[in-house]
Amino acid sequence: MTHQDELKQLVGKAAVQFVEDGMTVGLGTGTTVKFMVDALGQRVNQEHLSIVGVPTSDRTREQANSLGIPTKGVDEVDHIDLTIDGADEINNTFQGIKGGGAAHLWEKIVAINSDKNMWIVDSSKMVDELGAFPLPLEVIPYGSQQLLKRLEAKGYQPEFRMKDNQRVTTDSNNYVIDLHLGQIVDPHKLALELDQMTGIVEHGLFLDMVNTVIVGRENGPEIIH
Ligand code: 5RP
Repeated sequence: MTHQDELKQLVGKAAVQFVEDGMTVGLGTGTTVKFMVDALGQRVNQEHLSIVGVPTSDRTREQANSLGIPTKGVDEVDHIDLTIDGADEINNTFQGIKGGGAAHLWEKIVAINSDKNMWIVDSSKMVDELGAFPLPLEVIPYGSQQLLKRLEAKGYQPEFRMKDNQRVTTDSNNYVIDLHLGQIVDPHKLALELDQMTGIVEHGLFLDMVNTVIVGRENGPEIIH
């Protein structure tokens, strides 16, 4: 296991200590969350915890079910107590970029329907300014080439996300366009602008949503509220 993976595993284990019997828990997506779901599965099996997971992707649902964690869809629960998710970048006011795993639409839907949100990251994700990580947009395929041109005209350096020479599709069968911005001076202003652009289903700016961040550091997990 790489050192970065060790830090991811560390925060995954630390996060599941916040899960209590009877909770409905939002389960994020990504390599860090994968460690967290492993640790949650262990707790569920060893402590016979009765919890329900609300997964933010098909792959997280499959992993959770394979470990014996029961899951429900977001529309099948009446509330979510706590969602634990990863992030691609977090600044010092807890604003973040997500969507590196092409799951930010479902992740944001689950996050806004959760009483509390926690992000778990290795220390490389903590930044002074957002934007070095390309900002993901989930976009409707219809008209997406035209949307790309409009984003290009704004100087946002958009690029369809590709895998194996094919456009990446999300669990909702949409495309992902990444914006190579370098820096995001005013995240709230940019979020508003992207919210208003037809064809963009959701962007990866997660603003004012998170209560707790657990950062994996050399000397252990740092829990910041
Ligand atoms: C998926 C996400 C992930 O939470 C984010 O990309 C972090 O992933 P990882 O833990 O693999 O670095 O937003 O859409």
